[in-house]
Amino acid sequence: MQLAVIGMGLIGGSAALDLKRAGFAERIIGVGRRPETAAEALRLGLVDAVAPLEEAVAAADLTILAVPVDAALPLLPRVLDQVGEGQTVTDMCSTKRTLMAAVAGRPRRARFLGSHAMAGTENSGPRAAQPDLFRGKIGILCDTEASAPDAVAAVEGLYRALGMRLVRMDAARHDLHTAYVSHLSHAVSYALALTVLDKERDEAAIFNLAGGGFASTARLAKSGAPMWTPIFMNNQDHLLEALDAYRGHLDALREAIARGDVPALNDLIARANDIRRILG
Ligand SMILES: NC(=O)c1ccc[n+]([C@@H]2O[C@H](COP(=O)([O-])OP(=O)(O)OC[C@H]3O[C@@H](n4cnc5c(N)ncnc54)[C@H](OP(=O)(O)O)[C@@H]3O)[C@@H](O)[C@H]2O)c1
Repeated sequence: MQLAVIGMGLIGGSAALDLKRAGFAERIIGVGRRPETAAEALRLGLVDAVAPLEEAVAAADLTILAVPVDAALPLLPRVLDQVGEGQTVTDMCSTKRTLMAAVAGRPRRARFLGSHAMAGTENSGPRAAQPDLFRGKIGILCDTEASAPDAVAAVEGLYRALGMRLVRMDAARHDLHTAYVSHLSHAVSYALALTVLDKERDEAAIFNLAGGGFASTARLAKSGAPMWTPIFMNNQDHLLEALDAYRGHLDALREAIARGDVPALNDLIARANDIRRILG
């Protein structure tokens, strides 16, 4: 299979590495924006060649869009309008509804299947690409009924080659669930990092005390704005709902602390401990 990978960063680069290694792709053509990113992807061996978008898509059985969602919105209809029968397009972006709306009613809509590999790190660019990033994690296929059966089969094959467990979900539910389990955690981590960085102005040595707990909760705050601002903006309604719910719990904790209400605090913490049921 010939593959085109548009966006050779963490997600596109990691997928390219594993799909080549698994024998799923015979040849992978990368499409970049900045020449230095394309050169780096080539030097690292993530792709076999780089080419302009139209050339790469024309040669590909399967095209993967792995760029930030705001970049994918204008690219996806352009790519889709170019493909013929037997060619498939998928994206691996973190939000789905606006992309689905961008291709609704398009003549080649059935050649597209929106997907999301639920795996990642806080690092970006070709150098962040790593093998086995996706293994054992969940791959979501969205609105499969709007795609041709052979397009669904091609994307299922891709995710299986990455070692992922497949889940089907409509785009609306995908965006609702990811607002709570992914986008909210990033927003909270940014707020936590900002809070402690503000305090650092007065208390320069504050980070000397930062331990594993701070590092694990603030890790997501290392993730960059070019990817996360578009995610927040493309899932604005659900993220606002999640942030309001979160703020309610934060207020409840604050009030119990302010009142010195030990039973209320014990109760809130005990209820939160139920997360062990999910995370182990
Ligand atoms: N990181 C995660 O944890 C994670 C997890 C699941 C899904 N995702 C989704 O996966 C997608 C890619 O994320 P990522 O983490 O791989 O980001 P990344 O490491 O920053 O890579 C994105 C790449 O897209 C390229 N790009 C941007 N605009 C482009 C355009 N118009 N044409 C061609 N290339 C373009 C950038 O190249 P230049 O350097 O040339 O600008 C960059 O190398 C995003 O939609 C994200 O939401 C991310």
